[in-house]
Amino acid sequence: MSGKFITLEGGEGAGKSTALAFIAQEIRNHGIELILTREPGGTPLGEKLRELLLDYKNDLMCDDTELLLMFAARAQHLAQVIEPALQSDQWVLCDRFTDATYAYQGGGRGIDLQRIAQLEQWVQGDRRPDLTLLLDVPVEIGLHRITTRQETQGQRDRFERERSSFFDKVRQTYLGRARQYPQQYRIIDASQSLDAVQQQLQQVLSAYINQNTFT
Ligand code: TMP
Repeated sequence: MSGKFITLEGGEGAGKSTALAFIAQEIRNHGIELILTREPGGTPLGEKLRELLLDYKNDLMCDDTELLLMFAARAQHLAQVIEPALQSDQWVLCDRFTDATYAYQGGGRGIDLQRIAQLEQWVQGDRRPDLTLLLDVPVEIGLHRITTRQETQGQRDRFERERSSFFDKVRQTYLGRARQYPQQYRIIDASQSLDAVQQQLQQVLSAYINQNTFT
């Protein structure tokens, strides 16, 4: 048996950080050993690549460079963190993964999805998330939330500076993938109150955990 690989996805301002802490707690409450990690990042090298990717001063970065750096960080992350944890029966909760590449580099930047699929196969082999929780929120609500947050936290990163048409494409790509892979995806309506979002998460997680720990 090996651990389960769970990913959390969503557009900007979907409430991912709060949801992440809640999800981790829920899983651990079931006595499951879990590691929490993120992309881009998750290793010392990956975190350096993350800095390059998010730095708004790198405004000349071309789309292919962005795509390849995402997968470079991912290769390191898989080798150093994700695969060893799964092999030793730990569950992994990852804040974003390759579905974000399809949504941002594919949907947002317009890179051919076939190209992304080739890199996915090359870097990951057959590894795919077992469960993806998509926090879905209309773009205007998400962007409003990050604007409010920035008033307290300062500078927007390279992605947060994109226009709302970019985020519309990101959202539509995520929703399209959720329809395409219903076994993998659960859509959470993140426009609701924190309580309501947590209730949805709790329901999905207890169902998933019961199904996967008692069979
Ligand atoms: P975060 O907002 O979840 O911290 O992620 C950082 C940014 O990186 C976010 O704007 C989405 C972006 N991203 C991609 O564009 N492609 C990817 O493959 C991943 C993992 C993240």
